[in-house]
Amino acid sequence: MSNIFCAPGEPRAAKVNDLFAAIARRYDLLNDVQSFGLHRRWKRRVIELAAVQSGNRALDLCCGTGDLALALARRGAEVTGLDFSPAMLEIAEARRQRNFKPPISNLKFMAGDALQLPFPDASFDIVTVGYGLRNLTSWEKGLAEMHRVARPGARLVVLDFGKPANALWRGIYFAYLKCAVPLLGWMFCGNADAYAYILESLKQYPAQPAVAAKMRELKLANVRVINFLGGAMAINYGEKPI
Ligand SMILES: C[S@@+](CC[C@H](N)C(=O)[O-])C[C@H]1O[C@@H](n2cnc3c(N)ncnc32)[C@H](O)[C@@H]1O
Repeated sequence: MSNIFCAPGEPRAAKVNDLFAAIARRYDLLNDVQSFGLHRRWKRRVIELAAVQSGNRALDLCCGTGDLALALARRGAEVTGLDFSPAMLEIAEARRQRNFKPPISNLKFMAGDALQLPFPDASFDIVTVGYGLRNLTSWEKGLAEMHRVARPGARLVVLDFGKPANALWRGIYFAYLKCAVPLLGWMFCGNADAYAYILESLKQYPAQPAVAAKMRELKLANVRVINFLGGAMAINYGEKPI
């Protein structure tokens, strides 16, 4: 695999796509290993905040192998999972077929760009994104697209790596991302670069305080930040006013 770090001006989206094509088959396993299984708990919190109601339409952006989309569908929402990586979508679709027997009709996966969503304004009651915003060429544009396709009253929920406010804890956490996570990527996936990318992308991402500020700028209501592990992980939540 080519090195995934981009020189200035290199198309970042293509690099990110290559990265996920390379790690797709081991992605779920590595998530469990590097987070000690905790990502499952954080994703459950996303689903609680999404507060699925009967007849709700939900969009899960950067759905990857489908964790959030599958969980939203289990709660009865009409779900679209969107991602630009065919390799990740293939795994999501296989999980859908494995997990739901008889097959369900309220979940579909589709290829698409989170920065140019193929949906009209005000299409969804729930818009989620897990570990996706940080990977976009422009997280602000991604959030603006989430806002555009959200209906009045919709819940927007963003889960991603955060930046702890405490400098000592941030240093320890960044050291973990810099040393241990690429090592685990190499051991379980044969790919250290792809996992070193987490810290690189996090450095460029202003994380939970800036996402909350942008949500307020977009005039979302009830904007909240829910920190886990002292801010190492965070959920940003907001509602589109009715
Ligand atoms: C770290 S994975 C997250 C997968 C899943 N949401 C989860 O929580 O486990 C990030 C996903 O974002 C997708 N992605 C990155 N940029 C994208 C874009 N511009 N449009 C659509 N998907 C994108 C990648 O293909 C990858 O599947």
